[in-house]
Amino acid sequence: MNENRFSTRRFNLIKEIEDRSIVILYSLEAPHKTTDQYYPYEINRNFYYLTGLKKSNFTLLLQKDGQNQFEYLFIEEATDYSNKWLGKRMTKQEASLVSGIEEKNIFFVEHFDTFLHQQILSGQRKALARAPKLIYLDLYRHKPYVVPTALIKLDAVLKSYPEITYRNANEFLDIMRMYKDEFEVNEIRRAISYSKAGVEAILSVATPGINERSIVAMYEYALKTHNSEGNSFNPIVASGANATTLHYEENDQTAEDGSLVLCDLGALAGPYASDISRTFPVNGKFTDRQKEIYELVLSVNKACIDFVKPGIMMSELNLHARNLLAEGAMKLGMIQSPDEISKYYYHNVSHYLGLDVHDVGSYLIPLKAGVVLTIEPGFYIEEESIGIRIEDNVLVTETGSINLSESIIKEVKDIENFMAM
Ligand code: GLY
Ligand code: MN
Ligand code: MN
Repeated sequence: MNENRFSTRRFNLIKEIEDRSIVILYSLEAPHKTTDQYYPYEINRNFYYLTGLKKSNFTLLLQKDGQNQFEYLFIEEATDYSNKWLGKRMTKQEASLVSGIEEKNIFFVEHFDTFLHQQILSGQRKALARAPKLIYLDLYRHKPYVVPTALIKLDAVLKSYPEITYRNANEFLDIMRMYKDEFEVNEIRRAISYSKAGVEAILSVATPGINERSIVAMYEYALKTHNSEGNSFNPIVASGANATTLHYEENDQTAEDGSLVLCDLGALAGPYASDISRTFPVNGKFTDRQKEIYELVLSVNKACIDFVKPGIMMSELNLHARNLLAEGAMKLGMIQSPDEISKYYYHNVSHYLGLDVHDVGSYLIPLKAGVVLTIEPGFYIEEESIGIRIEDNVLVTETGSINLSESIIKEVKDIENFMAM
């Protein structure tokens, strides 16, 4: 068998799941927009994680029966119509090469339902495996009461096989995806390098009176010219008081002279994400007050990066950031007791990062080598039109941590010098 990283991941998943079960994962399709228009396609991250493929309308089927494991892939067939209208499609051979799934086990997607029924669920394929009792699916819900697409697609199957139950494959995949291998860390580094290019492009053009929209355009131009696939989330470019809204996405106001601009920006390297925040004075020079708050946030950013090591709980990291920000705010005379810090700091300091920006994983287990997370303390003073967040992307190592985004400038002097060039 072709031993590649995707084969190894499938093997590891199958080892974990219950006997006499199957896993079905869909690569899914772009959501419909209007008439014959579709939103940009985003690969289902679990499907990618297990196959390395980034194509829509593919299906992965894994089966475990005792010591036997089987894997099947269903891809879109190239037809005259698809060749002429939609472009070249992947061949079975190409899909096999990337995914490590044997070519003889790759079929066309229109045969999936029949295959599932005849070859797997009904147990008619006598020589190989017994009928499964359990189906693992991607049951991630982005909102309460939204039925996951996998359940919609398999509705008829689940109704006609009531003896077969289903479970959430994310129970296993979320934990597997938490620990990044060297290739993944390098992809995240690549995504960060695009954000770095974008941040430097922004600092080169920022000037009083610039519209936030132009800053976004500059960032996106830098990403594309450096060959990134684009943003890993909608950019947040927030000048002045706009920066006190955490997920400000309008990006359409003028950055007035004397204001700070908070940029929270991601980039894609393949499907891997970066998530970087930098805050700078649009006129290139911090006021004393802006600098005082900025230095506080920067010191907490650095202290939290230093705090990251195996064994630490996310809750401890959050508390550490909160305590340090509260201590700083008390020294500045802005609050009298630590509890009051919620007035100026109202989010967590970290989340996992990887194939998703807010990546999957458990927040109830200690950090371990291979985890990549953000460190993003902030401070928001609406009445002074000051919003500051400084966000880096950090790898947990065996002994501590590495700041993967260390080279993106964040010292006051460095920002001012860069902007003066
Ligand atoms: N960009 C969203 C966040 O920092 O979590
Ligand atoms: Mn961010
Ligand atoms: Mn973040």
